[in-house]
Amino acid sequence: MPYQGPQRVLSGIQPSGDMHLGNYLGAIRKFVDLQHQMDCHFCVVDLHAITVWQDPKKLKEQTLHIAASYIAAGVDPKKAAIFHQSGVPAHAELAWIFNCVARLGWLDRMTQFKDKAGKDKERASVGLYTYPVLQAADILVYKATHVPVGEDQKQHLELCRDIAAKFNHDFDTPDFFPLTEPLIKGPGARIMSLRDGAAKMSKSDPSDQATIYLKDSADDIAKKIKRAKTDPEPLPSETKGLENRPEAANLVGIYGALAGMSDDEVLKEFGGKGFGVFKPALADLVAGKLGPIGAELRRLEADPGYLEKTLREGAARAAAVADRTVAEVKEIVGFIR
Ligand code: TYM
Repeated sequence: MPYQGPQRVLSGIQPSGDMHLGNYLGAIRKFVDLQHQMDCHFCVVDLHAITVWQDPKKLKEQTLHIAASYIAAGVDPKKAAIFHQSGVPAHAELAWIFNCVARLGWLDRMTQFKDKAGKDKERASVGLYTYPVLQAADILVYKATHVPVGEDQKQHLELCRDIAAKFNHDFDTPDFFPLTEPLIKGPGARIMSLRDGAAKMSKSDPSDQATIYLKDSADDIAKKIKRAKTDPEPLPSETKGLENRPEAANLVGIYGALAGMSDDEVLKEFGGKGFGVFKPALADLVAGKLGPIGAELRRLEADPGYLEKTLREGAARAAAVADRTVAEVKEIVGFIR
Protein backbone atom coordinates (compact mmCIF):
# COMPACT_ATOMS: atom_id res chain seq x y z
CA MET A 1 0.00 0.00 0.00
CA PRO A 2 1.44 3.43 -0.91
CA TYR A 3 1.92 6.25 1.63
CA GLN A 4 -1.28 7.16 3.47
CA GLY A 5 -0.03 9.86 5.89
CA PRO A 6 -1.01 13.51 6.10
CA GLN A 7 -0.29 16.02 3.34
CA ARG A 8 2.72 18.16 4.16
CA VAL A 9 4.75 20.80 2.36
CA LEU A 10 8.49 21.41 2.57
CA SER A 11 10.59 23.78 0.55
CA GLY A 12 13.89 25.59 0.96
CA ILE A 13 16.00 28.43 -0.38
CA GLN A 14 19.78 28.78 -0.19
CA PRO A 15 21.18 31.75 1.71
CA SER A 16 23.74 32.39 -1.00
CA GLY A 17 22.61 35.80 -2.28
CA ASP A 18 19.76 38.29 -2.31
CA MET A 19 16.22 37.14 -3.07
CA HIS A 20 15.06 37.98 -6.58
CA LEU A 21 11.96 38.01 -8.72
CA GLY A 22 12.60 34.40 -9.88
CA ASN A 23 12.71 33.12 -6.27
CA TYR A 24 9.54 35.09 -5.54
CA LEU A 25 7.51 33.88 -8.53
CA GLY A 26 8.94 30.34 -8.71
CA ALA A 27 8.81 29.59 -5.00
CA ILE A 28 7.90 32.09 -2.25
CA ARG A 29 4.60 33.18 -3.78
CA LYS A 30 3.49 29.54 -3.82
CA PHE A 31 4.51 29.18 -0.16
CA VAL A 32 2.15 32.02 0.75
CA ASP A 33 -0.82 30.26 -0.87
CA LEU A 34 0.02 26.77 0.43
CA GLN A 35 0.30 27.80 4.09
CA HIS A 36 -3.50 28.06 4.14
CA GLN A 37 -3.98 24.60 2.67
CA MET A 38 -1.44 22.24 4.30
CA ASP A 39 1.02 21.86 7.18
CA CYS A 40 4.04 23.80 5.82
CA HIS A 41 7.77 23.84 6.59
CA PHE A 42 9.96 26.47 4.94
CA CYS A 43 13.64 26.15 5.43
CA VAL A 44 16.70 28.34 4.86
CA VAL A 45 19.14 25.73 3.59
CA ASP A 46 22.43 26.89 5.10
CA LEU A 47 23.96 23.37 4.91
CA HIS A 48 23.41 23.45 1.16
CA ALA A 49 24.89 26.96 0.86
CA ILE A 50 28.29 25.86 2.22
CA THR A 51 28.75 23.32 -0.58
CA VAL A 52 30.47 26.34 -2.20
CA TRP A 53 32.53 28.82 -0.15
CA GLN A 54 30.51 31.24 2.01
CA ASP A 55 31.96 34.04 4.08
CA PRO A 56 30.79 33.14 7.64
CA LYS A 57 29.61 36.66 8.54
CA LYS A 58 27.75 37.05 5.28
CA LEU A 59 26.17 33.60 5.66
CA LYS A 60 24.50 34.71 8.88
CA GLU A 61 23.21 37.90 7.26
CA GLN A 62 21.96 36.03 4.20
CA THR A 63 20.19 33.47 6.38
CA LEU A 64 18.29 36.24 8.14
CA HIS A 65 17.63 37.87 4.75
CA ILE A 66 15.89 34.73 3.45
CA ALA A 67 13.85 34.40 6.66
CA ALA A 68 12.85 38.08 6.36
CA SER A 69 11.94 37.56 2.68
CA TYR A 70 9.59 34.69 3.53
CA ILE A 71 7.82 36.81 6.14
CA ALA A 72 7.80 40.02 4.07
CA ALA A 73 6.20 38.17 1.15
CA GLY A 74 3.41 36.93 3.42
CA VAL A 75 4.46 33.63 5.01
CA ASP A 76 3.14 33.72 8.58
CA PRO A 77 5.62 32.13 11.02
CA LYS A 78 2.70 31.23 13.30
CA LYS A 79 1.18 29.13 10.53
CA ALA A 80 4.21 27.70 8.74
CA ALA A 81 7.45 26.70 10.46
CA ILE A 82 10.25 28.97 9.17
CA PHE A 83 13.66 27.67 10.25
CA HIS A 84 17.33 27.22 9.39
CA GLN A 85 18.33 23.77 8.17
CA SER A 86 21.38 23.53 10.46
CA GLY A 87 19.02 24.11 13.42
CA VAL A 88 17.40 20.69 12.82
CA PRO A 89 20.21 18.08 12.95
CA ALA A 90 17.83 15.35 11.73
CA HIS A 91 18.31 16.64 8.13
CA ALA A 92 22.02 15.79 8.17
CA GLU A 93 21.44 12.49 9.96
CA LEU A 94 18.91 11.27 7.42
CA ALA A 95 21.12 12.55 4.59
CA TRP A 96 23.88 10.16 5.67
CA ILE A 97 21.52 7.20 5.57
CA PHE A 98 20.29 8.37 2.14
CA ASN A 99 23.92 8.61 0.97
CA CYS A 100 23.92 4.85 1.46
CA VAL A 101 20.64 4.41 -0.45
CA ALA A 102 21.35 6.67 -3.46
CA ARG A 103 23.54 5.22 -6.22
CA LEU A 104 26.62 6.88 -7.71
CA GLY A 105 25.12 6.52 -11.17
CA TRP A 106 22.07 8.57 -10.13
CA LEU A 107 24.25 11.42 -8.86
CA ASP A 108 26.48 11.27 -11.94
CA ARG A 109 23.45 12.29 -13.99
CA MET A 110 22.70 15.45 -11.99
CA THR A 111 23.08 18.44 -14.29
CA GLN A 112 23.36 21.01 -11.49
CA PHE A 113 26.62 19.45 -10.26
CA LYS A 114 28.02 19.60 -13.77
CA ASP A 115 26.97 23.26 -14.11
CA LYS A 116 28.26 24.33 -10.70
CA ALA A 117 31.47 22.31 -10.62
CA GLY A 118 32.41 23.52 -14.11
CA LYS A 119 35.41 22.05 -15.91
CA ASP A 120 37.49 21.45 -12.78
CA LYS A 121 35.25 18.98 -10.96
CA GLU A 122 38.19 17.47 -9.04
CA ARG A 123 38.28 20.70 -7.02
CA ALA A 124 34.54 20.76 -6.22
CA SER A 125 33.53 19.88 -2.64
CA VAL A 126 32.19 16.40 -1.93
CA GLY A 127 29.18 18.19 -0.44
CA LEU A 128 28.36 19.72 -3.82
CA TYR A 129 28.24 16.22 -5.29
CA THR A 130 25.88 14.79 -2.67
CA TYR A 131 23.85 18.03 -2.51
CA PRO A 132 20.68 16.42 -3.99
CA VAL A 133 20.82 13.63 -1.38
CA LEU A 134 20.64 16.22 1.41
CA GLN A 135 17.77 17.86 -0.47
CA ALA A 136 15.89 14.52 -0.47
CA ALA A 137 16.52 14.29 3.29
CA ASP A 138 15.12 17.84 3.78
CA ILE A 139 11.91 16.72 2.12
CA LEU A 140 11.50 13.19 3.42
CA VAL A 141 12.44 13.94 7.04
CA TYR A 142 8.98 15.62 7.10
CA LYS A 143 7.45 12.95 4.84
CA ALA A 144 6.50 15.95 2.70
CA THR A 145 3.97 15.07 0.02
CA HIS A 146 4.31 18.36 -1.89
CA VAL A 147 7.30 20.57 -2.71
CA PRO A 148 6.74 23.98 -4.34
CA VAL A 149 9.79 24.91 -6.46
CA GLY A 150 10.82 26.50 -9.74
CA GLU A 151 11.50 24.43 -12.85
CA ASP A 152 15.28 24.19 -12.21
CA GLN A 153 14.62 21.82 -9.27
CA LYS A 154 12.80 19.18 -11.35
CA GLN A 155 15.72 16.75 -11.55
CA HIS A 156 16.40 16.98 -7.80
CA LEU A 157 12.76 16.18 -7.06
CA GLU A 158 12.93 13.12 -9.33
CA LEU A 159 15.97 11.92 -7.38
CA CYS A 160 14.04 12.42 -4.15
CA ARG A 161 11.31 10.10 -5.45
CA ASP A 162 13.92 7.53 -6.51
CA ILE A 163 15.49 7.57 -3.05
CA ALA A 164 12.09 7.21 -1.33
CA ALA A 165 11.12 4.33 -3.61
CA LYS A 166 14.43 2.51 -3.12
CA PHE A 167 14.33 2.93 0.67
CA ASN A 168 10.71 1.69 0.79
CA HIS A 169 11.64 -1.27 -1.40
CA ASP A 170 14.98 -2.23 0.21
CA PHE A 171 13.60 -2.22 3.75
CA ASP A 172 10.25 -3.70 2.72
CA THR A 173 8.32 -0.74 4.11
CA PRO A 174 6.25 0.17 1.02
CA ASP A 175 4.22 2.89 2.72
CA PHE A 176 6.96 4.54 4.79
CA PHE A 177 8.08 7.47 2.62
CA PRO A 178 5.71 9.28 0.21
CA LEU A 179 6.62 9.70 -3.44
CA THR A 180 6.69 13.47 -3.21
CA GLU A 181 4.92 15.59 -5.84
CA PRO A 182 6.79 18.64 -7.09
CA LEU A 183 4.58 21.73 -7.48
CA ILE A 184 6.27 23.43 -10.41
CA LYS A 185 3.60 24.36 -12.93
CA GLY A 186 2.14 27.81 -13.18
CA PRO A 187 3.38 31.18 -14.38
CA GLY A 188 6.80 32.20 -13.10
CA ALA A 189 8.30 28.69 -12.88
CA ARG A 190 11.28 29.82 -14.96
CA ILE A 191 12.13 33.52 -14.97
CA MET A 192 15.06 34.39 -17.21
CA SER A 193 17.88 36.96 -16.87
CA LEU A 194 17.08 40.46 -18.12
CA ARG A 195 20.38 40.44 -20.05
CA ASP A 196 20.11 37.00 -21.67
CA GLY A 197 16.87 35.19 -22.47
CA ALA A 198 18.72 31.85 -22.48
CA ALA A 199 20.02 32.09 -18.87
CA LYS A 200 17.83 31.85 -15.78
CA MET A 201 17.59 34.79 -13.40
CA SER A 202 20.02 33.89 -10.63
CA LYS A 203 21.41 35.10 -7.29
CA SER A 204 24.94 34.67 -8.61
CA ASP A 205 24.68 36.53 -11.93
CA PRO A 206 27.80 38.70 -12.27
CA SER A 207 25.71 41.55 -13.72
CA ASP A 208 23.26 43.05 -11.21
CA GLN A 209 21.39 44.49 -14.21
CA ALA A 210 20.29 40.93 -15.04
CA THR A 211 18.34 40.42 -11.84
CA ILE A 212 15.47 42.23 -10.11
CA TYR A 213 15.89 41.90 -6.34
CA LEU A 214 13.05 42.07 -3.81
CA LYS A 215 14.90 44.97 -2.20
CA ASP A 216 15.29 47.04 -5.40
CA SER A 217 13.76 50.53 -5.33
CA ALA A 218 11.13 51.53 -7.93
CA ASP A 219 13.87 53.54 -9.59
CA ASP A 220 16.27 50.55 -9.82
CA ILE A 221 13.46 48.39 -11.20
CA ALA A 222 12.55 50.97 -13.86
CA LYS A 223 16.21 51.32 -14.90
CA LYS A 224 16.81 47.57 -15.10
CA ILE A 225 13.67 46.97 -17.15
CA LYS A 226 14.44 49.91 -19.44
CA ARG A 227 17.90 48.41 -20.12
CA ALA A 228 16.59 44.82 -20.40
CA LYS A 229 17.70 43.15 -23.61
CA THR A 230 14.94 42.98 -26.24
CA ASP A 231 14.62 42.99 -30.01
CA PRO A 232 13.47 45.83 -32.27
CA GLU A 233 10.09 44.28 -33.23
CA PRO A 234 6.81 45.31 -31.56
CA LEU A 235 5.08 42.68 -29.41
CA PRO A 236 3.08 40.10 -31.40
CA SER A 237 -0.65 39.75 -30.87
CA GLU A 238 -0.45 35.96 -30.26
CA THR A 239 1.89 33.73 -28.20
CA LYS A 240 3.07 31.95 -31.37
CA GLY A 241 4.82 35.19 -32.30
CA LEU A 242 6.99 34.91 -29.17
CA GLU A 243 8.76 31.81 -30.51
CA ASN A 244 12.47 32.52 -31.00
CA ARG A 245 12.10 35.79 -29.07
CA PRO A 246 13.20 34.58 -25.61
CA GLU A 247 13.75 38.04 -24.10
CA ALA A 248 10.33 39.30 -25.21
CA ALA A 249 8.72 36.04 -24.03
CA ASN A 250 10.36 36.45 -20.61
CA LEU A 251 9.08 40.01 -20.12
CA VAL A 252 5.58 39.02 -21.22
CA GLY A 253 5.74 36.04 -18.84
CA ILE A 254 6.77 38.27 -15.91
CA TYR A 255 3.92 40.68 -16.67
CA GLY A 256 1.41 37.82 -16.83
CA ALA A 257 2.69 36.13 -13.67
CA LEU A 258 2.38 39.35 -11.65
CA ALA A 259 -0.89 40.55 -13.18
CA GLY A 260 -2.58 37.13 -12.98
CA MET A 261 -2.99 37.09 -16.78
CA SER A 262 -2.11 34.46 -19.37
CA ASP A 263 0.48 35.38 -22.05
CA ASP A 264 -2.42 35.59 -24.53
CA GLU A 265 -4.23 38.11 -22.37
CA VAL A 266 -1.07 40.21 -22.01
CA LEU A 267 -0.60 40.17 -25.78
CA LYS A 268 -4.24 41.10 -26.35
CA GLU A 269 -3.49 44.26 -24.40
CA PHE A 270 0.01 45.01 -25.72
CA GLY A 271 0.16 43.25 -29.13
CA GLY A 272 1.41 45.64 -31.84
CA LYS A 273 2.91 47.99 -29.25
CA GLY A 274 6.67 48.52 -28.96
CA PHE A 275 8.86 48.04 -25.89
CA GLY A 276 8.80 51.83 -25.40
CA VAL A 277 5.20 51.35 -24.25
CA PHE A 278 5.42 47.86 -22.72
CA LYS A 279 8.54 48.34 -20.58
CA PRO A 280 7.23 51.31 -18.52
CA ALA A 281 3.95 49.43 -17.92
CA LEU A 282 5.91 46.37 -16.79
CA ALA A 283 8.18 48.48 -14.55
CA ASP A 284 5.13 50.03 -12.85
CA LEU A 285 3.58 46.61 -12.29
CA VAL A 286 6.79 45.07 -10.88
CA ALA A 287 7.48 48.07 -8.63
CA GLY A 288 3.85 48.07 -7.43
CA LYS A 289 4.06 44.37 -6.43
CA LEU A 290 7.60 44.31 -5.02
CA GLY A 291 7.57 47.78 -3.39
CA PRO A 292 5.59 46.80 -0.26
CA ILE A 293 7.51 43.50 0.07
CA GLY A 294 10.86 45.31 -0.18
CA ALA A 295 9.79 47.88 2.44
CA GLU A 296 8.67 45.15 4.87
CA LEU A 297 11.88 43.22 4.17
CA ARG A 298 14.01 46.24 5.12
CA ARG A 299 11.95 46.77 8.28
CA LEU A 300 12.38 43.12 9.33
CA GLU A 301 16.11 43.09 8.58
CA ALA A 302 16.53 45.98 10.99
CA ASP A 303 15.46 43.58 13.77
CA PRO A 304 17.85 40.59 13.55
CA GLY A 305 16.92 39.54 17.10
CA TYR A 306 13.32 38.93 16.04
CA LEU A 307 14.42 36.99 12.95
CA GLU A 308 16.81 34.76 14.94
CA LYS A 309 14.11 34.04 17.52
CA THR A 310 11.63 33.16 14.76
CA LEU A 311 14.14 30.75 13.19
CA ARG A 312 14.91 29.07 16.52
CA GLU A 313 11.23 28.64 17.36
CA GLY A 314 10.58 27.30 13.86
CA ALA A 315 13.49 24.87 14.22
CA ALA A 316 12.08 23.52 17.49
CA ARG A 317 8.69 22.95 15.84
CA ALA A 318 10.26 21.34 12.79
CA ALA A 319 12.54 19.13 14.91
CA ALA A 320 9.52 17.64 16.67
CA VAL A 321 8.41 16.16 13.32
CA ALA A 322 11.86 15.44 11.90
CA ASP A 323 13.19 13.66 15.01
CA ARG A 324 10.23 11.29 14.93
CA THR A 325 11.03 10.29 11.34
CA VAL A 326 14.70 9.72 12.11
CA ALA A 327 13.80 7.57 15.12
CA GLU A 328 11.54 5.44 12.88
CA VAL A 329 14.25 5.21 10.20
CA LYS A 330 16.84 4.05 12.76
CA GLU A 331 14.48 1.31 13.86
CA ILE A 332 13.85 0.25 10.23
CA VAL A 333 17.56 0.25 9.35
CA GLY A 334 18.46 -1.78 12.43
CA PHE A 335 20.37 0.71 14.59
CA ILE A 336 20.33 0.29 18.37
CA ARG A 337 18.32 3.18 19.90
P1 TYM B 1 17.57 28.07 -4.84
O1 TYM B 1 18.02 28.69 -3.56
O2 TYM B 1 18.47 28.12 -6.02
O3 TYM B 1 16.20 28.71 -5.30
C1 TYM B 1 15.12 28.81 -4.42
C2 TYM B 1 13.81 28.60 -5.15
O4 TYM B 1 13.64 29.58 -6.18
C3 TYM B 1 13.41 28.94 -7.43
N1 TYM B 1 14.06 29.72 -8.49
C4 TYM B 1 13.45 30.16 -9.59
N2 TYM B 1 12.18 30.04 -10.02
C5 TYM B 1 11.86 30.62 -11.20
N3 TYM B 1 12.76 31.32 -11.96
C6 TYM B 1 14.05 31.46 -11.57
N4 TYM B 1 14.91 32.14 -12.31
C7 TYM B 1 14.44 30.87 -10.33
N5 TYM B 1 15.62 30.80 -9.64
C8 TYM B 1 15.37 30.10 -8.51
C9 TYM B 1 14.04 27.56 -7.28
O5 TYM B 1 13.48 26.64 -8.19
C10 TYM B 1 13.72 27.23 -5.84
O6 TYM B 1 12.41 26.73 -5.72
N6 TYM B 1 18.21 23.15 -4.23
C11 TYM B 1 17.34 24.28 -3.88
C12 TYM B 1 17.17 24.49 -2.39
C13 TYM B 1 16.66 23.33 -1.60
C14 TYM B 1 15.34 22.81 -1.65
C15 TYM B 1 15.31 21.75 -0.68
C16 TYM B 1 14.19 23.13 -2.37
C17 TYM B 1 17.36 22.61 -0.70
N7 TYM B 1 16.54 21.66 -0.14
C18 TYM B 1 14.16 21.00 -0.47
C19 TYM B 1 13.04 22.36 -2.14
C20 TYM B 1 13.04 21.31 -1.21
C21 TYM B 1 17.95 25.53 -4.46
O7 TYM B 1 19.11 25.62 -4.73
O8 TYM B 1 17.09 26.57 -4.56
